[in-house]
Amino acid sequence: MFITFEGIDGSGKSTQAKALVEALKSQNVPCTWTREPGGSEGAEAIRKLLVEGDPNRWSAETEILLFNAARRDHLEKTIAPALERGETIVCDRFVDSTRIYQGVVRADLRETVDIMHKTMIGREADLTFIIDIDPEVALTRGLARNSGEDRFEDMGLQFQKDLRAGFLELAKQNPERCKIIDGSQSMEDVGRDVLAAYESAQP
Ligand code: ADP
Ligand code: TYD
Repeated sequence: MFITFEGIDGSGKSTQAKALVEALKSQNVPCTWTREPGGSEGAEAIRKLLVEGDPNRWSAETEILLFNAARRDHLEKTIAPALERGETIVCDRFVDSTRIYQGVVRADLRETVDIMHKTMIGREADLTFIIDIDPEVALTRGLARNSGEDRFEDMGLQFQKDLRAGFLELAKQNPERCKIIDGSQSMEDVGRDVLAAYESAQP
């Protein structure tokens, strides 16, 4: 199974993606955690270009090309081989982030993102958790990490509000695949909701 976590910056995706991997491993489900941008050596090198530096460093169009280059390498080197081995992949962000960040909020390029995805990647997640949270809470949590990877956080509060609306609309358009999870709860309660949604998505 190919599972992705999506949502605004600082919403708790990484925390929950890692917790789900641990929960699945304890059920003896072979499972790999990975992330975007990154998840393979080449894609991690491209990540640095994307998440550091001035917010105006790249246009939305250039970002689409860089995210797709990173994603293609990640798919070839990490995702596809793991799925072929029969493992479950849990990925922190995937194409839905490009759809919303570059395709809706940074610019009106949703169709371009979908065309590129179909041509160069051609793979959708089976199940996507959208961690939904008030952007003011998420921004405070995210910036408090002092990660040095704040290029998108530095685009401001309104940017994060628009992202939240974009992800909620995406979930509405894809109700089978996308499950909205209330990220304002404690880590344990969010994790419990994720696991319950995972279990109800099993055939
Ligand atoms: P993301 O991957 O979406 O940016 P993280 O999982 O890295 O988010 O979480 C951002 C910060 O918020 C981290 O410092 C993390 O420990 C903290 N955090 C995550 N989930 C919660 C929660 N439910 N309640 C309080 N703090 C949280
Ligand atoms: P991430 O490390 O997940 O950020 P955070 O922990 O703050 O949620 O992702 C890095 C940044 O890249 C994040 O701000 C979102 C952005 N991004 C895009 O704009 N488009 C994409 O396709 C992806 C995968 C990420």
